[in-house]
Amino acid sequence: MLSAALVSLALVSGAFARAIKPRAVCADGTTVSNAACCAFIPVRDDLINDIFEGTCGENAHSTVRIAFHDAIGWSDFSDKGGGADGSMIAFGDIELAFEANAGIDEIVEDLQPFALAHGISFGDVIQFGSSVALSLCPGAPLVQTFVGRANATEPAVDGTVPDPFNPVDMILARMLDAGFQPEEVIALLASHTIAAQDEIEPAIERSPFDSTPALFDNQVFLEVLLQGTAFPGNGSHEGEVESPLPGEFRLQSDRDLARDPRTACTWQSFALDHDTMAQKFSAAMTKLSLLGQFQDQLVDCTEIIPQAPPSSRSQAFFPAGKTFDDLELTACDNAFPTTLLTQEGTTTSVARVPPQ
Ligand code: HEM
Ligand SMILES: *[C@@H]1O[C@H](CO)[C@@H](O)[C@H](O)[C@H]1NC(C)=O
Ligand SMILES: *[C@@H]1O[C@H](CO)[C@@H](O)[C@H](O)[C@H]1NC(C)=O
Repeated sequence: MLSAALVSLALVSGAFARAIKPRAVCADGTTVSNAACCAFIPVRDDLINDIFEGTCGENAHSTVRIAFHDAIGWSDFSDKGGGADGSMIAFGDIELAFEANAGIDEIVEDLQPFALAHGISFGDVIQFGSSVALSLCPGAPLVQTFVGRANATEPAVDGTVPDPFNPVDMILARMLDAGFQPEEVIALLASHTIAAQDEIEPAIERSPFDSTPALFDNQVFLEVLLQGTAFPGNGSHEGEVESPLPGEFRLQSDRDLARDPRTACTWQSFALDHDTMAQKFSAAMTKLSLLGQFQDQLVDCTEIIPQAPPSSRSQAFFPAGKTFDDLELTACDNAFPTTLLTQEGTTTSVARVPPQ
């Protein structure tokens, strides 16, 4: 009896709580469930127009990258930094000098004055900015997005960001130290579908990691599985870098994670299933954005993040000139099908991402 009464009381008060949930109408007429989100509507619009120039281009890509590099300055077991706290900007004089952060300075030059002009914290401009950036990339999922992070109080230590020439063991150990299982690491690497390199081969800057860097499709998971040939270059890793297609750059870490027994089957499954890839990526991004933060002290403003348009293709395809026989596959429970289509033409040469 008593417990039944408590249950019905809980149901009534739950309904009541929903009914009186504070809602606010923002200056532009948008109704939001938390008034604190109103301030982020002009932030969103100015990011899209002024920083990303309305495209899933270099600045959108770099903002997703800084979301990782800032947040991963965290450990569940020792003090390595404050996580997703904006320390990459607040302590840029220290963190931007770390080798793994090469190239991040460019997006910091945009986001630092932007955050100051809009009166938001550096942690928020980075994580909210990453979710807004993704909304410009067809095929990207909506990412649950929180705001209200305080200013960073300390820099991250060097060595928290994985290096692309680290062995898989080391990368997985570092990510586990920050709370990410191997499957979640592979899910986060869906980000490399909207990515290019500048720093490893500076002579060939903006060379992408897949043939469709403006789309959040699952091509990167298929193309990294292709056999590679030496990537032309004269950088510090000359001769070590491979490429599956002319103009396309492949990180050694991506190649190895796609073939390691611990991660290969997850990798291959994402090459076959865009929607699962996108959903697991979204969950892992929210987790990343909350490292070092208390979720109940933040405000969920997901409702003002636009949903990206869908990707035009539902299946990954072989770039022209490539077939199933070019794949370097691992035997998994789900055998890799031979049915993916090849694009028409002779060879695919991948264009560089235009500079912004
Ligand atoms: C697990 C280990 C990872 C390694 C070793 C790695 C390494 C790299 C490297 C070397 C670059 C090229 C940077 C340059 O030369 O400009 C890059 C680009 C990028 N990475 Fe990662 N990354 C990793 C994970 C991630 C994660 C978890 C994310 C986001 C969730 C991410 C997002 C990006 C993006 C978006 C770019 C492209 C940036 C641009 O084109 O401007 N990466 N990554
Ligand atoms: C956070 O840092 C910015 C820039 O360094 C500063 O303008 C702002 O007042 C700080 N906010 C708080 C709450 O300390
Ligand atoms: C690499 O080659 C580019 C031109 O292809 C040249 O501008 C650059 O100086 C070279 N760098 C090194 C380290 O030799």
